[in-house]
Amino acid sequence: MTARIISGTEIRESILEEIATEVDRLRAEHDTVPGLVVIRIGDDPASVSYVKLKSKTAQRLGFHQVEEFHPEDTSEARLLELIAQYNADPKVHGILVQLPLPRHFDEEKVLLAIDPDKDVDGFHPVNAGRLLIGEDVRFPPCTPAGIQEMLRRAGVTTEGAEIVVVGRSNIVGKPVAVLLMQKGETANATVTVVHTRTVDMAAHCRRADILIVAAGRPGLVQPEWIKPGACVIDVGVNRIGEKISPKTGKKVADLQGDVDFERAREIAGWITPVPGGVGPMTIAMLMRNTLRSLQLSLGQP
Ligand code: GUN
Repeated sequence: MTARIISGTEIRESILEEIATEVDRLRAEHDTVPGLVVIRIGDDPASVSYVKLKSKTAQRLGFHQVEEFHPEDTSEARLLELIAQYNADPKVHGILVQLPLPRHFDEEKVLLAIDPDKDVDGFHPVNAGRLLIGEDVRFPPCTPAGIQEMLRRAGVTTEGAEIVVVGRSNIVGKPVAVLLMQKGETANATVTVVHTRTVDMAAHCRRADILIVAAGRPGLVQPEWIKPGACVIDVGVNRIGEKISPKTGKKVADLQGDVDFERAREIAGWITPVPGGVGPMTIAMLMRNTLRSLQLSLGQP
């Protein structure tokens, strides 16, 4: 069997078109557009490239968009001041602080400072709590929401499916498990989360109808761990070096997922590539959450 490739890049384009149409409507009917601030502290290469893509996408959609780039030695007090400024700015509907922050920041304190109504990442404890309860979920975290949307648009059934999530991070593993076990469409799954202390991770993975891998370890999932015909979602984006881009001739990061793609695609029924899989979906969901924040502020359901 050769797996069908689920292209995040293609799905992203249709989502962005839908968002652009809604932005045009809001501009015409309410004389307003979604506003997004992205804050990056320091020059971590992965963060530099993620934030650039987020800003570019917001610009392309006609959002009001602000970039705040500050040096590594910025104080926590200065960052909290910036957050307070944008919490109070009516043109801003979403505030994103790119993680990880340099070590001298208390990440929890920073996330708590963001107004939950502008927390388009869905990382504030109020929004994490809403997600867990499954009521009034305003901003589902972007990567988990992107995975759910990919499954929905690719026509992969989650109802009653055995889903195994590899990794228990607050950004991906935990929230995606919660999202897919909830009652609802593209959910209702039986979810197992495996992690570094799991005994016999391979045995759990082999049971999965849908295997979601967010471990951050290149090539961790071996082809023998995959049930024939399963859907494999690879969230890993590991920089294993640099290469020359065939398109531009410039040096770019050489990215590899957590799954051995070439061998896995011979066993799986569906698979996401790296790059071009989950990554573009995360950005599309950030735009959707920012649009939703504006809609909520206008009293639209
Ligand atoms: N770092 C890695 N992923 C994310 C994300 O989705 N949002 C933020 N703010 N930082 C990240």
